[in-house]
Amino acid sequence: MLLHLDASARRTSFSRELSRVYADTWRAAHPDAGYVYRDLAANPVPHITEAWTELSDHVMSHEITDISRYGEAARTPARRKAWEIVRPLLDEVVAADTVLIGTPMYNYSIPSSLKAWLDQITFPKMSLKGRSFVVTAARGGAYGPGTPREPVDHQERFLRDFVAGHFAVDDITFITTELANSLIDPALAHRREEHERSRQAALKAAAR
Ligand SMILES: Cc1cc2nc3c(=O)[nH]c(=O)nc-3n(C[C@H](O)[C@H](O)[C@H](O)COP(=O)(O)O)c2cc1C
Repeated sequence: MLLHLDASARRTSFSRELSRVYADTWRAAHPDAGYVYRDLAANPVPHITEAWTELSDHVMSHEITDISRYGEAARTPARRKAWEIVRPLLDEVVAADTVLIGTPMYNYSIPSSLKAWLDQITFPKMSLKGRSFVVTAARGGAYGPGTPREPVDHQERFLRDFVAGHFAVDDITFITTELANSLIDPALAHRREEHERSRQAALKAAAR
């Protein structure tokens, strides 16, 4: 199954454009494999609550590593309410072969809508081994290897570190459109061709 998430606040968005191309290609190649779509910007998942932290603490203190046993932690009405939010989100991730995340860079990092989803589905010492993650990303500037801004790319760096460190998944691919702001910011107008080259290369990679 392909789990497809989008997090851009814009409907016309470069990260959405890429994730759509990737999803269309994936679905054509796996017509019977299943597909679930979530728009985290249009339908945000709530922030975690105190009851959610109790679920997480229970999982940790009882050394529960089997995701199918997390529901055991829902022992009070407040925790059951928190669990009702988590459960469908987790079921989707567990059922996925590939998790596709379309995300912009916001303030050097990821949108809070995507962070809220990650906070909901992430439990202590959890493994999602065997799954692939694909991130289709967009950013206003340029953060590639060797650029002055490379060290502040907390979008790719964070997602790569998080998925490896928390989910034990090292199969993660980034497909990125850069320099989107060249279309808006007069100071970057001279880099529009570079942006278009980056976009076309990303679209090609997503279609592959
Ligand atoms: C709230 C906000 C914060 C942003 N922060 C950054 C940033 O830190 N660095 C950057 O290069 N671009 C930044 N941008 C520009 C976006 O990354 C760029 O518009 C990108 O194309 C957004 O992805 P989308 O086209 O999928 O919506 C920001 C845009 C918004 C709306």
